[in-house]
Amino acid sequence: MYKIVEKRALNEAVTLMSVHAPHIARKVLPGQFIILRLDEYGERIPLTVAAYDRKAGEVTIVFQAVGRTTKMLAALDVGDDILDFVGPLGRPTELEGVHKAIVIGGGVGCAIAYPQARFLHEQGATVKVVAGFRSRDIVILEEEMKAACDELLIATDDGSYGRHGFVTDLLRELLEADSGYDLVIAIGPVPMMKAVCALTKEYAVKTTVSLNPIMIDGTGMCGGCRVHVGGELKFACVDGPDFDGHLVDFDELQRRNAIYRAQEQVDANHICR
Ligand code: FES
Repeated sequence: MYKIVEKRALNEAVTLMSVHAPHIARKVLPGQFIILRLDEYGERIPLTVAAYDRKAGEVTIVFQAVGRTTKMLAALDVGDDILDFVGPLGRPTELEGVHKAIVIGGGVGCAIAYPQARFLHEQGATVKVVAGFRSRDIVILEEEMKAACDELLIATDDGSYGRHGFVTDLLRELLEADSGYDLVIAIGPVPMMKAVCALTKEYAVKTTVSLNPIMIDGTGMCGGCRVHVGGELKFACVDGPDFDGHLVDFDELQRRNAIYRAQEQVDANHICR
């Protein structure tokens, strides 16, 4: 069993939770994820690690309560236990040798973009973070992101905070002003990552995306997380979750992610334990 040691609401729907899992905290790196199962009847859900404390043996996850399991997870409190908490899974993001990067987070994706920005910043890279939200009331981790980069730029769809517009508007300005970026990292909704990659392709800047397909076992056995990258079949759980964004078939990913939407909605509306 894995004990919840911290719980904090970042906004109405997004929760930060730290879990005592020393064997994961000891070796996890930015970009890797865990799979958890709340109880013996529970589904397995993958969540990318947002932070870790090797000394305390704690792993932090940030999640949006949108489905059955995330709603049940959000209802747990400090001191409660999670049955299974497995990881670290997937490959760490390749961050070696990066000197100047733009890290882009969309919504709850900022929780995953943030440790990557922090890692790069701590390695001495120049890092700009572009964070996009629908509106001011759902902005998360602003102070943390600010401390993890040289400049934080926020965009909101409705203009209620930061710049009125999308992350791609700010990204275009950054790329126009400076051709020296050697990496863009984009993490968030599939349409956002797709739009970012279309833009960075124009400017020929290498772009890494973190994919979020349906996952079941997380070990490359079930094929549930399959995606096409550069025409090749890949399993996001073992080959990713990070991939070269210029090669990802985002349309297929979006179609596959929507396959069970109706069932997920029915399930999310009937939480019982
Ligand atoms: Fe089963 Fe990736 S989750 S192969």
